[in-house]
Order: sequence, then C-alpha cells, then structure tokens
Amino acid sequence: MKSREVRPEVYPVGAIDWDRRLFDALIPLPDGTSYNSYLIQGSKKTALIDTVDPTMEDMLINHLNQLGVENIDYVVANHAEQDHSGTIPRVLEKYPQAKVITSPRCKEMLIDLLMIPEEKFITVNDKETLSLGDKTLEFIYTPWVHWPETMCTYLREEKILFSCDFFGSHLATSNLFVTDEWQTIEAAKRYYAEIMMPFRTNIQKNLEKLEDCAIDIIAPSHGPIYDRPESILQAYRNWVSDELRNIVVLPYVSMHGSTHKMVDYFVESLVQKGVTVKQFNLLVTDIGKLAMALVDAATVVFGTPTVLAGAHPSVIYAAFLANALRPKLKFASIIGSYGWGGRVVEQLTGILPNLKVELLAPVLIKGFPKEADFKALDNLSATIAHRHKEHHFA
Ligand code: FEO
Repeated sequence: MKSREVRPEVYPVGAIDWDRRLFDALIPLPDGTSYNSYLIQGSKKTALIDTVDPTMEDMLINHLNQLGVENIDYVVANHAEQDHSGTIPRVLEKYPQAKVITSPRCKEMLIDLLMIPEEKFITVNDKETLSLGDKTLEFIYTPWVHWPETMCTYLREEKILFSCDFFGSHLATSNLFVTDEWQTIEAAKRYYAEIMMPFRTNIQKNLEKLEDCAIDIIAPSHGPIYDRPESILQAYRNWVSDELRNIVVLPYVSMHGSTHKMVDYFVESLVQKGVTVKQFNLLVTDIGKLAMALVDAATVVFGTPTVLAGAHPSVIYAAFLANALRPKLKFASIIGSYGWGGRVVEQLTGILPNLKVELLAPVLIKGFPKEADFKALDNLSATIAHRHKEHHFA
C-alpha cells in the first residue's frame, strides 16, 4: 500500500477522531477532530513532529509500522498538551534511542505531565535549527497559542510550517488537504475563539514573526493541511486585529416568558436600526458558536430573569466565559425581568472585570414588559446603534 505524502518523504501518521464530541471536558466538537503527527525522513535522520492523543496511540504506531519505520531519531514536541504529547512515552518505548526536541519550558511541562525522564530531552532555542541531512528543521517559538510553551517547526527546504494548535481546526476528514476552505476556516475560527482569543495580542506578535518565513504549506496538528495558506493567515490577521463589527451578541435565558418578550422586542428594534444581532438562547446554545460570535462583535447584551436574587446561573456561566475569553467588545448591557428585586447588575458586572467595556444603562423591569419598558428597550437599541455608527463599525 502506497503511503500518502504531504511532500516527498513527509508522511502524515496521525489519527482521525471521528467520534469525539467534547474537548477539555468543555468544548463541543460537532465535527470530531484529528491529532496530526508527521514523519519526516531526512537523508541522515528521521523526525516525528508531535504525536497523538493517548486514546488513539495504536493508530500512530500502526501508521509507523505500515511505513516500515525502524528508527526515529527525534520526536519534536511543539506543545505539551496531551492531545499531541500523550503518545510520546509509547513512541520512546518503541524507539528507545529517540530524543525529544522541545523548548525548555515545554520540557518541564512534559516531565510534569508525562514523567518523561530528563535524559530523553534535547532543548532548542528560538530560531535554532536541526539538520536531518538533506532537510533542516527550524524551531520558531510562538508562545501563548493558549499555553506558554508553544512553538512551531518549519521545514525549510519544503517551506512547510508545522504549527500544532495554531491555525488548526477541529474537523475529522479523510482529506489530507483542505478541500472546503469555507468549512475549514469556520472550524478554525471556532477553535481560535474557544482557546486562543484571550491571547490575541500574543498571537498578533506570532503572526508578525512568521512573516519572516516563506510558507507554502501550513500543516497543523488538528484538521486538514493548508496548501494555499494565505486564506487562513488572512483570517487570523482579521480575528486578532482591533477591528470590530456592527454586531450585538445577545446570550439570554427566560423562565416564564417576560425576558423572552423583551429579547424579541429588543432584537427587532436593533435590526430596524441597522444593527446585526446574534441571539443565543443559552438553554440550547453550543458555547463554541457563542464564542465565535464574540470574536468581532462590538457589543454584548445579557438577557436574564432574576432567580435566587441574581442572574440565571446559565447567564452567569456565559458572562464568566465571555470574561475569560476576553473578546474585543467595546460595549455591554443587561436586560431582563424580576419579580420583586435582586442584584443582577452588580452580580453580572462583577464577573466581567477583564472586559474593557462601557456599560450602557441596563433595562431591568418588574414583571411582564409594558409600554414604558418597550420604550426603554428602544432607547437602549438607539444608543447602541448610535455608538456603533460613531465608531464606524461596519
Ligand atoms: Fe491541541 Fe492545546 O492542544
């Protein structure tokens, strides 16, 4: 059986996880994922770039056996998280002469997480190179692609960037290269939103750093490989840029219909004023979609009833998540209904300290909304539309 190649003597040997539906016990994976690992056969040395999640270690070993790989000199660990590093111990068992090539910080994490013995490591500095004979690996530190130790590996002769999580997408597909660009970039945006968005400024710097490399191929460790990398590079530049869009994200819950009525009215009012709205009923929302909507929205408005003297727990969770993800948002507000009182505004604003937003006057009403309440919602939507226009959010 002929093996597939990314380029001559660069083989994909990872695993496709068609069935996985949750990552980090948190993130929904509607389309599964893959743990990509690549074998590079140089004229003198052989390197393996990243491994796979330990649940799929047999698949990596089978792929290495199918290729007849008798010796691996280097296992490059771009990132310590176990979905890429978890099978390193098994690979070292099979190829005991192999050394783990990684950054000093990643080495410490791999010792902590996987108990890999210290003598198995060779650490590399930023921009250091390693010769495989006719091929050269260059290690480019790209810290805070959600963990502090991350790096990319660049295969100079073929201009391939092995980027691990960076530019990756949670997509299970049997296609080695991107065939549906729109689908892949959508999945990559979801992944960026879910774990990388809090580190936007670091990622900006990493993108600038990569401009020094001519890149023909981006081979991430999740999802298909980009053989026309400009689209994903441009998409990332847009996501990390300071640009905001004329969008209101509206996560909400309603218990008995009053808050729902307010949300419906408010959304219509915003739409009439030319504002785009992304509305999420938190009882049925995929939080990945909510995270994605926050990537470039200018405003978030939380809709909540008052329960147990505060906001609904699902709204508190959404606010907590928005605060942790640190989107670029400029404005925030709260709408909702209460029966007799409560501390919704203090509570919700108290869990949003990371968001550098202006709080626009909340609309909290008693019971079912009445004429004066609808007017208050119109005023809030007019303020939002005006602010977005002032800032030229398109
Ligand atoms: Fe795909 Fe951060 O691990």
